[in-house]
Amino acid sequence: MPPTDVAHNARVWNYWLGGKDYYAVDQQVGDHIVGMYPSIREVARADRAFLGRVVRYLAGEAGIRQFLDIGTGLPTVDNTHQVAQSVAPSSRIVYVDHDPTVLIHARALLTSSPEGVTDYIDADAQQPRAILDAAADTLDFHQPVAVIMLGILNFVADTDEAVRVVRTLMDAVPSGSCLALTHPTLELGGSANEEAMRFWNRNATPPITARTRAEVARFFHGLELLPPGIVSCARWRPGRVAEDEKTVAQFGALARKP
Ligand SMILES: C[S@@+](CC[C@H](N)C(=O)[O-])C[C@H]1O[C@@H](n2cnc3c(N)ncnc32)[C@H](O)[C@@H]1O
Repeated sequence: MPPTDVAHNARVWNYWLGGKDYYAVDQQVGDHIVGMYPSIREVARADRAFLGRVVRYLAGEAGIRQFLDIGTGLPTVDNTHQVAQSVAPSSRIVYVDHDPTVLIHARALLTSSPEGVTDYIDADAQQPRAILDAAADTLDFHQPVAVIMLGILNFVADTDEAVRVVRTLMDAVPSGSCLALTHPTLELGGSANEEAMRFWNRNATPPITARTRAEVARFFHGLELLPPGIVSCARWRPGRVAEDEKTVAQFGALARKP
């Protein structure tokens, strides 16, 4: 039974997205943060919309057939495998999360198309070698893999450690593989965002860290950032900036391993 006395990120995120898999404590903390920082719901929705666009691009134009989605979150609409397999039914997807509630609901993620595969690994993102070993049962690491880390590196407090995690993963995948990530920042938001994060760190788990554009750029060292680069995830479109979308305080970017 997952702990119900402390708000957990996966469940609060689900609450902000309009899902139904959360406890009273998640709703209380979630509502309090909405009161402090009303655009948090837009951030969550923009992040999921980014996931849809980036996976559609990867499975379509980029021709990728393997996805390693770390920090999956609770199942909602348009999960990675549904988007990827709607474009390329043979896509193989491995989900990774360490939240006990996500583990309970993982069955809902394992509804693959007959031609493809989906798998779920209960693991900590800070153990990338263990993730790679377990994912090798489903993914062929001689073929390109899209590593997807949306809203998760912000739960690795130390930037050097977060960079090490990303490097270990990207070193294990061949040329043509991609890294997609989103990450909260204070550079695109206001002081309310900072206070809301402080409240989160006192009242919920795991603790969150915002990063600057320069810090986020470190995750892409040695990779080729695809246009439009590191932008508000609401404004990210493959190949161009969407000027009409509202900025949210969450960076989004996609890069390719040369
Ligand atoms: C903000 S949610 C993002 C969910 C999804 N990627 C999205 O963008 O909608 C972050 C997810 O990362 C998971 N997570 C946080 N720290 C983690 C860690 N160290 N290892 C594995 N998963 C982690 C949480 O349980 C949660 O499900």
